[in-house]
Amino acid sequence: MKINNQHFRTIWLKPGDSGIVQIIDQRKLPFEFIIEELHNLGEMSVAIKDMHVRGAGLIGAAAGYGMYLASLEAGDITFKDEVFKSGKLLKATRPTAVNLQWAVNRHLELLRNCISLEEFRDKSLHLANAIADEDAAMCRSIGDHGLKVIENLSKKKLGETVNILTHCNAGWLAFTDYGSATAPIYLAHDKGIKVHVWVDETRPRNQGARLTAWELGSHGVPHTVIPDNAGGHLMQHGLVDIVITGADRVTNSGDAANKIGTYLKALAAKDNQVPFYVALPSSTFDWAMTDGIREIPIEQRDAHEMKFMEGVLQDGSIAEIQIIPDRHAVENYGFDVTPARLITGLITERGICQANQESIRKLFTEKY
Ligand code: MRU
Repeated sequence: MKINNQHFRTIWLKPGDSGIVQIIDQRKLPFEFIIEELHNLGEMSVAIKDMHVRGAGLIGAAAGYGMYLASLEAGDITFKDEVFKSGKLLKATRPTAVNLQWAVNRHLELLRNCISLEEFRDKSLHLANAIADEDAAMCRSIGDHGLKVIENLSKKKLGETVNILTHCNAGWLAFTDYGSATAPIYLAHDKGIKVHVWVDETRPRNQGARLTAWELGSHGVPHTVIPDNAGGHLMQHGLVDIVITGADRVTNSGDAANKIGTYLKALAAKDNQVPFYVALPSSTFDWAMTDGIREIPIEQRDAHEMKFMEGVLQDGSIAEIQIIPDRHAVENYGFDVTPARLITGLITERGICQANQESIRKLFTEKY
């Protein structure tokens, strides 16, 4: 992704200092573009938990670099125990997105076979970089497959604008590059296909209004931010041709956990015969889970996210204001599960399949 003509990923090692990981602090967007430096496991854990970095793919990549940073702090003799504990700490930061566990487990597997700290440090650095690169490559392929769906809709509409609704941010910022739900949109736009994106604002943290809109705007993709509750109305009036969302964990039978509110969009899409696609890299499948509603852990986040909102005051300063008085109880579920029966298709790096075991198995035979 280019910001002011400079190519950025969302996470990288500081050039010239492989002991420092650099990230874009997403809490500050779209008001400020700040690069933050992370020096150790503790800082990386806070960055994931407090959402300086966020989105399934990116927290997987961040966890990979977190394990590498943990190796730099570990002692010669005790490194296996220490790194194992670091993995446990990282896994607890965000429970719903499976990419985080997937990345930590890959490092733990590596750890098991290393005989010295030095060996683990070298290999862990290599693995962290590989996880970030793989993430970008998978998203790029998702883009190629999803593009065909948008192309077909554009043909059906005789070249008229294809209206795509998306929820939360499954964009470049949620991965190391390209995004999952946004990758087909960027490719379609770059190919000259007319697209327009309805961006759900996505309360309470407003990742749609703050991040997706910023990303799409930076890339020149026409878009409109809408309140979270507007999607059903737009669909009833023929203003949505397709819904594409990301996912934080998808079961082997195609149930998909994504940002809270996604399920309601899927219900409205079904009622209005609007195709509903979920875009995900294979690192977001939880091959061990089948029943998403019963099995996927749903993160509950701090009430502060509900009660306070951040924005720009008239004098240009950034401020947080309270919108729900303390006397009210609030609940802040981060995710919900869309059952497979509401999903038209899963767009993966290996192609598009239906949201059921048989169809997923055809693409990922080795996982069953
Ligand atoms: O809480 P977040 O912002 O980390 O939530 C994850 C998401 O961005 C969405 O659920 C997204 O659609 C998943 S795709 C990475």
